[in-house]
Amino acid sequence: MSVESVVQAVYLVAAVLFVLSLAGLSKQETARRGVLLGMTGMGLALVATVALALDRSERPVGVTAGLILLVLLVGAAVGTWRARTVEMTQMPELIALLHSFVGAAAVLVGFGSYLTDPGSAGSDGTAGADGAGATVHLVEVFLGVLIGAVTFTGSVVAFGKLSARLRSSPLLLPGRNWLNLAALLACGGLLWWFLTAGESGLVPLLLMTVVALALGWHLVAAIGGGDMPVVVSMLNSYSGWAAAAAGFMLGNDLLIITGALVGSSGAILSYLMCRAMNRSFVSVILGGFGAEPGVVAQGAPAEQGTYRETTALEVADRLTAARSVIVVPGYGMAVAKAQYPVADLVARLTARGTTVRFGIHPVAGRLPGHMNVLLAEAKVPYDQVLGMDEINDDFATTDVVLVIGANDTVNPAAQDDPASPIAGMPVLEVWQAREVVVFKRSMATGYAGVQNPLFFRENTAMLFGDAKDQVELIVQAL
Ligand code: TAP
Repeated sequence: MSVESVVQAVYLVAAVLFVLSLAGLSKQETARRGVLLGMTGMGLALVATVALALDRSERPVGVTAGLILLVLLVGAAVGTWRARTVEMTQMPELIALLHSFVGAAAVLVGFGSYLTDPGSAGSDGTAGADGAGATVHLVEVFLGVLIGAVTFTGSVVAFGKLSARLRSSPLLLPGRNWLNLAALLACGGLLWWFLTAGESGLVPLLLMTVVALALGWHLVAAIGGGDMPVVVSMLNSYSGWAAAAAGFMLGNDLLIITGALVGSSGAILSYLMCRAMNRSFVSVILGGFGAEPGVVAQGAPAEQGTYRETTALEVADRLTAARSVIVVPGYGMAVAKAQYPVADLVARLTARGTTVRFGIHPVAGRLPGHMNVLLAEAKVPYDQVLGMDEINDDFATTDVVLVIGANDTVNPAAQDDPASPIAGMPVLEVWQAREVVVFKRSMATGYAGVQNPLFFRENTAMLFGDAKDQVELIVQAL
């Protein structure tokens, strides 16, 4: 059996492991297993790729092996150091930076592939040296470089905005959508030139790279810093397609499959995030997302009647009397780092025989899965943590709901007020419960800048103060 066929078989196993890994990552209970499967698949893929490179090596095998080892050591050392030192809150910027590497790699692979073989088929040799095969290869190179360049600069800007190295406010050039369209049309023209230029296609390829780099920069610069999580997920998708394009250029089936998995899962995640935030998917792809002032309700009344205040002692009393409790955490729980006392409170109530569960909105916090990660960190059992769709019908039969630092995700205006900027956004229907306690520091609005009528409902009481301090007081009182 040749090395080539063993490697192809290992690639197939790795591809299956990647699919199983994604399936595992879709549930909290199986996420750890999903990560392990993904790591195993990537380990196998690396070993197989190195074996293939050594088998195909035209220079002495020892030299090739030495070079690969050197690169692996440098990459592994930097990767391990970053993974160990990164703070949970810096995760999005690290991911953005990693996406920029995928983009840069696709650009380099494209140029490498073109320069070593300007007019023939891909390195798999399947297409042959006939005209159609050569054209297909040139299109692969062109698209790979285009997507890679857009991903590269887009990710660098996202990294800059998330790490506050660049201004986070959106850059709104006049006629920005026309500029994007003009850049795409220019790329179309350059593709034509590239395909018909024969051996001298390097000029249109270089020109397109410059245009694509500018396009990626402009697309993401036009987006407000607060909306970067959706953009990072979109760039994740772009980086997948860039990797798939590199796979076509190199004739590497595993890279094509992996790229397609990353590309489509990134796109699905972006779509789900947009839907949960009631934003348009198209406007994200086109850029300018979050740039409209509609994100902040203009002229919205600051107050909507009277609200009732409560104290930690009173809340402790109500919790003692309650038979069923739902905790709805939001961004404020993350800010206050209140997950540990919240987990403690829930454990104590559960030990007393109270039914306690968490209700998690898909975009609670500022990252997909933000609340799930915090609760897992505080060792809350997974079966107590339910998604919005699983728990929304249960509020009506619940005694007390504790809304801890959540605001937009529990706003009834999303259902009741068609004029609200968040009208149509799916929300947790906490107001259906017998009593609602809202933990926050003031009457300030949440991320969307919209006032929340929940605070003025008869069955709602406000517990002002830092969420961590207040939960600790309740635990003491219990
Ligand atoms: P938000 O609507 O942002 O409200 C958070 C609330 O927490 C604020 O009203 C704030 O009120 C309170 N808070 C802040 N610090 C606190 C502290 N130390 N102690 C107690 N309370 C504190 O949160 P949410 O309900 O989780 O909604 C998330 C929002 O972010 C949505 O609009 C969503 O569309 C958006 N978003 C989400 C994502 C993802 S993927 N999750 C990405 C981008 C945008 P005070 O200032 O009065 O304390």
